[in-house]
Amino acid sequence: MDRRAAQALDSEDPLSGYRTQFTDDDGGPIYLDGNSLGRPARAMVESVNAALHDWSANLVGGWSRWIDLPGAVGDRVGRLIGAGPGQVVVCDSTTVNLYKLASAALTGRPGRPVILGDADDFPTDRYVLQGLAQAVGRQLRLLPASTGEGLTTEDLAAAIDSDTALVCLSHVNYRSGALLDLASITEAAHRHGALILWDLCHSAGAVPIDLDASGVDLAVGCTYKYLNGGPGAPAFLYVRRDLQARLRQPIWGWFGQRDQFGMGPAYDPDRGIRRFLAGTPPILGLVAVDTALSVLETVGIPALWSKSQQLTALLSDLVRRRLEPLGATLATPRDPARRGAHVSVAHPLAWPWCQALIDRELVIGDFRPPDVIRLGPAPIYTRFVDVYDAVERMEGVLAAGVEEDPRPHSVLDALLGRDAPVVGVLDLAHLGCGVG
Ligand SMILES: Cc1ncc(COP(=O)(O)O)c(C=O)c1O
Repeated sequence: MDRRAAQALDSEDPLSGYRTQFTDDDGGPIYLDGNSLGRPARAMVESVNAALHDWSANLVGGWSRWIDLPGAVGDRVGRLIGAGPGQVVVCDSTTVNLYKLASAALTGRPGRPVILGDADDFPTDRYVLQGLAQAVGRQLRLLPASTGEGLTTEDLAAAIDSDTALVCLSHVNYRSGALLDLASITEAAHRHGALILWDLCHSAGAVPIDLDASGVDLAVGCTYKYLNGGPGAPAFLYVRRDLQARLRQPIWGWFGQRDQFGMGPAYDPDRGIRRFLAGTPPILGLVAVDTALSVLETVGIPALWSKSQQLTALLSDLVRRRLEPLGATLATPRDPARRGAHVSVAHPLAWPWCQALIDRELVIGDFRPPDVIRLGPAPIYTRFVDVYDAVERMEGVLAAGVEEDPRPHSVLDALLGRDAPVVGVLDLAHLGCGVG
């Protein structure tokens, strides 16, 4: 594969026309961080502006249109993740939604002492489960994978038993990009009467998901990665219809109340998905997500996934042929059927290598400790030639020699660049943990 072959793939790409809805081809950076924060669609500027004008013109009267947005936008997210209407709402952050649903699941499985998770899962997932297990007196069991390629259905099937109340897993691992078999793991949990909660942050909007057909109980995910909803855009949660009236979430807020404006003395939750809301939804973020979804809906998941698989196949192949001889290793499953939509590369000097790529080569991926650079070529706006050029620049930097970089390993610090003032580094490092 040479550069001309990559350009040929772009010229045959049925999705190539969508790129201009996100970016000018202006010689800007090669953006391979769509798995951390997607690009904004141009249409969002107009729709968010219109929402601001609506607010300005109608003031509090706008709420008659805004109040149902969590459910309306939720139904649209549902279409991308195989969920029928009335089972998804867009609200709060992934962290908060994970807490709400994990906690609700435990109330639905009293007397079962064990919560099962992935030892290599995203920090917030592990921390939320740790806190919850401690608070309600259950035991958290975090499973290590039996191979270097992430947890398998067999690993999980062997660990789930009649003591398991809840299995909580990420569909695609944030660091390695390993893709779990959502349907067969869901079935394994159900065989033993456990509930399952999937974190779809790294799959929603890129990887095919069929929550209803797979019989999934609960799911959460963010809207700022492949769904392109913007920094801090609200997350989504899914609760299968037949479970909704039976599960109770722990945040008894007025947006979950059956008669919200009755202002009654006691909490009496809505019977449906609204009971999983808590407080006032972030309307500007919801409007942004709604617009971002319109663009994705016109393309559809099958086309996005097909291009994503081609992009990750090209990327993995280039990593193996051009970076592995220089001491890097592909840190994503080699079997394409076990990969999500991003590819990771390990190298002992991954941190300074990643910084050099951002600072000098305008290749934006991100670093994840201890030694991984993640590359997320979001299919709707990434070209094959971007993938080719990025690996060529990565090769150039490695071949020229990478030196240790004393800067703290934080995403935000990296993006601020070499001259970022030292004051505030601790704060930024802390914030960086939440990005991606
Ligand atoms: C897999 C996964 N789960 C949860 C989160 C946390 O999401 P939030 O910070 O929106 O709560 C992230 C953030 O990137 C993530 O990658």
